[in-house]
Amino acid sequence: EKVLFVTSEMRDFVKAGGLGDVSAALPRVLAHEHDVRVLIPGYRAVLQSGRPLRKVGATRRRGELPPCEIYELQTDDGLRVLAVCNQELFDREGSPYVNAKGLGWADNDIRFATFSSVAADIAAGQAGLAWQPELLHLNDWTCALAACYTRWRHQSTPTVLTIHNLAYQGVFPATTTRRIGAPEHATELDFHGQVSYLRGGIVRSDCLITVSESYAQQIVDPVYGCGMDRLLARRRNEGRLVGILNGIDDSWHPQHDEALDTTFSVGEWEQRQCNTSALREEFGLEPIHGPLFIFVSRMVHQKGLDLVYEAAPQIIAAGGQLILIGRGEPMFERMASMLAKRFPGRIAAHIGFKEDVAHRMFAGADFLLMPSRYEPCGLSQMYAQAYGCLPIAHATGGLNDTIEDGVSGLLFQSARVSDLRGCLQRAFRIYAEPLLLEAMRGAAMLERHDWSRSGQQYTRLYRQLCTQKAVA
Ligand code: ADP
Ligand code: GLC
Repeated sequence: EKVLFVTSEMRDFVKAGGLGDVSAALPRVLAHEHDVRVLIPGYRAVLQSGRPLRKVGATRRRGELPPCEIYELQTDDGLRVLAVCNQELFDREGSPYVNAKGLGWADNDIRFATFSSVAADIAAGQAGLAWQPELLHLNDWTCALAACYTRWRHQSTPTVLTIHNLAYQGVFPATTTRRIGAPEHATELDFHGQVSYLRGGIVRSDCLITVSESYAQQIVDPVYGCGMDRLLARRRNEGRLVGILNGIDDSWHPQHDEALDTTFSVGEWEQRQCNTSALREEFGLEPIHGPLFIFVSRMVHQKGLDLVYEAAPQIIAAGGQLILIGRGEPMFERMASMLAKRFPGRIAAHIGFKEDVAHRMFAGADFLLMPSRYEPCGLSQMYAQAYGCLPIAHATGGLNDTIEDGVSGLLFQSARVSDLRGCLQRAFRIYAEPLLLEAMRGAAMLERHDWSRSGQQYTRLYRQLCTQKAVA
């Protein structure tokens, strides 16, 4: 099967969160079985990646959606990437989604409608490429419209939409409908008087995937459904909404990780301890004996940093330490900075995004705090486990599916400080029993949630959709 994997971030070039990791890992796994190309916007980081770019196609202007050029480049390991280039839309400094003030780019409606439209053009063989996909694999709202464009243009290419986070829906004013070239009568974008790109994708895709089975079950309920639960419940009943758990790739392996001075494997606890000491030093923490907790995350409401903020004094009082790293909403960034100021030598915070530091944090810390209010999958807990850092998490979504309470981490039942506190007490007790701590560390490291099973599930799904299309 020829598959176009469409995504707005990819760790090789630009990463804002877990989607960047998945988009780097999953296509590489799928490439063993399928002819896969990844389609991403031609961000500055892509254009300046130093890899040779070869022009392979172009699309024409469609109303307000400007023309684009398509360039192909290859990663060192031979994955073929297609970049949708339009200088005005994508060649700018900063995050793929937000400006320096943290607000969505004012032209995100046109940016991601154009990106989606180009994906549909490629599927239709209208972009001049010598290659035409048999299936579009879309990810999140930023390319969800591609499923609509294919329908509106009477194309038959099957579409799969993976929902990485239902809360990000690409909502714009109702007037957007006309600007992006949707037909007058189209109702699939309607969302409480506005338009939602994600809703369009949910209505129009042949199959919906969530990144864990628990999340697929949760989002058909109003509490987690972000206003789309009824629509999703219908898809679920039709067998067109399923969960396929994310995995982690080999770049997260404590035995060969270039970000670490001392690599280690299961049982090599002294080597691991070197990472703990180095991490304390890197963040200016006192060299005490006590559990080291970390928080590595986008700093947004979803991730429950406010719970960590409230529980932090308890961690310090009981002889622990805490390092926070992340970037996000100003209110949460301030919480992290305030904690560091209040407990110097005990709590450290870094506001920013640093991939290599995240690796060292997982390798050195004892416990990862992940009190997410909801979590479609979550990758950080799996990375932490791979490095023997035990996740302490709210039993929701993918956290529930990847952590075995008391074995490979600790789970608490509701996203409340009181529940988190209970888990922290358990963590201190475990830390005080080295044999138990080591057993749990080993269990977590051996868990290795790799991509093999999920890759097979995607393969099966692709084949099913392509066969259905052939028969139809
Ligand atoms: P989400 O996609 O909701 O942000 P995930 O747990 O799936 O959550 O993925 C988050 C990814 O981003 C992980 O790889 C995590 O290590 C990384 N990450 C988040 N914040 C930072 C940061 N400030 N610096 C480095 N890595 C970060
Ligand atoms: C989203 C979710 C996260 C998931 C990631 C990759 O950003 O918030 O839970 O792991 O996508 O699928």
